[in-house]
Amino acid sequence: MTAEPLLAIRGLRKSFGGLQAVRGVDLDVADGAIVGLIGPNGSGKTTVLNLVTGEIAADGGSVRLAGQEMIGLPAFRVCRSRIARTFQLVRILPGMTTRENVMVGRLFGAEPTTPARARDEVGALLECVGLAARADQAGSQLTYIDQKRVELARALATRPRVLLLDEWLAGLNPSELQIGIALIRRLRDEGVTIVMIEHVMEAIRALCDHVVVMSAGALIASGAPDAVLSDPEVARVYLGEDDA
Ligand SMILES: Nc1ncnc2c1ncn2[C@@H]1O[C@H](COP(=O)(O)OP(=O)(O)OP(=O)(O)O)[C@@H](O)[C@H]1O
Ligand SMILES: [Mg+2]
Repeated sequence: MTAEPLLAIRGLRKSFGGLQAVRGVDLDVADGAIVGLIGPNGSGKTTVLNLVTGEIAADGGSVRLAGQEMIGLPAFRVCRSRIARTFQLVRILPGMTTRENVMVGRLFGAEPTTPARARDEVGALLECVGLAARADQAGSQLTYIDQKRVELARALATRPRVLLLDEWLAGLNPSELQIGIALIRRLRDEGVTIVMIEHVMEAIRALCDHVVVMSAGALIASGAPDAVLSDPEVARVYLGEDDA
């Protein structure tokens, strides 16, 4: 008998009106893995994350974390069950400082504590993501990359077992990308299991143990990064018939 994976997604489905955005997705994520979720624009990747985190209600299917069903739970309960995320379109609290943004994760996450303790504790996370020097700066004054760092630190502050990254590395310059890749690798080494939606294939190759490909709401390929990225069918869905 094989043990159940840390995160087990089965038959996940969601339609928006007549559009089947996610049509029966199955995905296993082993404890300690980094899994890449790739696919062309509009293929349903973010919708999968939104379903897993309880952001939107599923039409059907199951998402179990360590055997516990997440489907049907409100988003805050999924978060307290130790699944955290970042957003494709960055969503920080602009009127709060960097530190306060990250405190929100600590205060509303899996092991809530007092504001005074949260204030002390988030220092290490700010250090980890490279924001210590901007701890007291208003969110609205942060650069794009720093806002992404805030989102990551806030997600980590909730104390996740599974971290879902929605194009966290998108829009970074080449040196920031290397820093970002090293940071994600370090988080995994510290025990966080990661599912990353990403269009930056350099990062997928560098980080992922396993890659799955979505097209039009369904998984069409899965395996080791090199094998998946050299699959002609994967090239075809990315490039379109004529260019493949
Ligand atoms: N809340 C919503 N209401 C209606 N349609 C939606 C909603 N969210 C997503 N969709 C549609 O579902 C499909 C899948 O969208 P989704 O955002 O999951 O794609 P994606 O793979 O993340 O794409 P991208 O790479 O561009 O981020 C798209 O056609 C999108 O327009
Ligand atoms: Mg998306």
